[in-house]
Amino acid sequence: QFRDNTLIVVFGASGDLAKKKTYPALFGLYRNGYLPKDVHIVGYARTKMDQEEYHKRTTSYIKNPNDDPEVAAQIEEFKKLSSYISGNYDDSPSFQNLARHMEAIEKSYQGRGVNRLFYLALPPSVFVPVSKYVKECCYATNGTNRIIVEKPFGKDLQSCRDLLSSLKQSWKEDETYRIDHYLGKEMVKNLLVLRFANVAMGAAWDKHSISNVQISFKEPFGTEGRGGYFDEFGIIRDILQNHLLQVLSILTMERPVSFASEDIRDEKQYLSCSHASFRSSQVKVLRAIPPIKREDVLLGQYVGANGKPGYLDDDTVPKDSVCPTFAATTLWINNERWEGVPFILKAGKALNEAKVEIRMQFKDVTQGIFKDISRNELVIRIQPSEAVYLKLNTKTPGYAFRAIPTEMDLTYKRRFTDTKIPEAYEALILDAIKGDHSNFVRDDELDVAWKIFTPILHWIDGKEGPRPKPSPYPYGSRGPKELDSFIEKLGYKRAAEE
Ligand code: BG6
Repeated sequence: QFRDNTLIVVFGASGDLAKKKTYPALFGLYRNGYLPKDVHIVGYARTKMDQEEYHKRTTSYIKNPNDDPEVAAQIEEFKKLSSYISGNYDDSPSFQNLARHMEAIEKSYQGRGVNRLFYLALPPSVFVPVSKYVKECCYATNGTNRIIVEKPFGKDLQSCRDLLSSLKQSWKEDETYRIDHYLGKEMVKNLLVLRFANVAMGAAWDKHSISNVQISFKEPFGTEGRGGYFDEFGIIRDILQNHLLQVLSILTMERPVSFASEDIRDEKQYLSCSHASFRSSQVKVLRAIPPIKREDVLLGQYVGANGKPGYLDDDTVPKDSVCPTFAATTLWINNERWEGVPFILKAGKALNEAKVEIRMQFKDVTQGIFKDISRNELVIRIQPSEAVYLKLNTKTPGYAFRAIPTEMDLTYKRRFTDTKIPEAYEALILDAIKGDHSNFVRDDELDVAWKIFTPILHWIDGKEGPRPKPSPYPYGSRGPKELDSFIEKLGYKRAAEE
């Protein structure tokens, strides 16, 4: 099932993404026996360093908090699978050098076909030259070639189209794997099962039952160390336009024809590549969402509090930056199923907790015989501690006859005690090794996603007049003070006990 003779090249091996996600994921796969036989990992970056320094660095990216000797031994073994080569991102000799390095490693495959996987953990400024030189100098003629790219895919609709067409000059769609790591998260994958394998859920999944939906992303830390990147992109491009919109489209799409990767991508609607139906379902629902209006947006920026620095205190951020570190936006889906239901996407850095969740609030019970009862709410917690729980009313136990709010709770760590939940990046890198496109982003999906967000992004960027000023919120708080009224005016009702 897994491809033997695989060579994985990590471009940007000394960068933030490689450190936080790529190497830990590769090690996770190795540890659990999921890397192919005879795999080799080549780290590539501009930094000049010898093999020893490279191994020291990459292994420092891997966590072994309890100094478990078994993990320590595995890290030593993992090192042996990897080597480093430095080079530029924009000249041919560097890539020819890389090609020679790869060929030397592949000699041990003794003429059997090779599988090359190129992982671009790189800033967007070098996506195009790297993909071009890799194709020119490092493309295997006796095996498969795949390229993994990461967001940001442009900054708006036009720049995304330009980027995609440049990448397409070198790489075919079925060789390209665009990561949105939220598609690799266990709970995001579970949405399909929750929706389409349960009559009880499916029946309530529309405007007749649902009053409003919130999809929230909260991080308890700021942009420390990434201020330069972040200031150019802002929270909408960092989280809402990709991660949260992916969640929204899976939550709201119609049932795909099947789970073949092309079927999933088609219910989102597919135009130009070979992988079709689940994603098409997603694209189809995204097409029903008109561009977001200014009045449907709330922006915020964190300021120093509780001994923590404000966004503007970061030296890499311009002192007068109005870049939003928090945003809440309301999206409307103009189709039969969802028309009139507000979908609130909200995300923020430097908030009071780490949490990503979906909250679907049901409508009030009509003509009820009970007074002051809370609405039902289905909460799907993506992280931390995956859970699905349904808030419902039950009779207070005992002699009294009253309805009180309670919960039906499926918390994974209590229910599935022995199951290891794979990290999103582990799952996605494994999919790319196997050649499975189901959980990667299609080109047409990016196009519709940018159409929804581009007008407000141009407004925020100051392309249509003065830039809007974000509302300040203290580091470690719940967000801007206007947030509660923003959500309540869309019909969200707090539960009686809150
Ligand atoms: C990345 C963003 O895509 O996702 C980061 O660029 C963010 O700003 C990260 O911190 C969050 O990922 P996760 O898996 O921790 O939710």
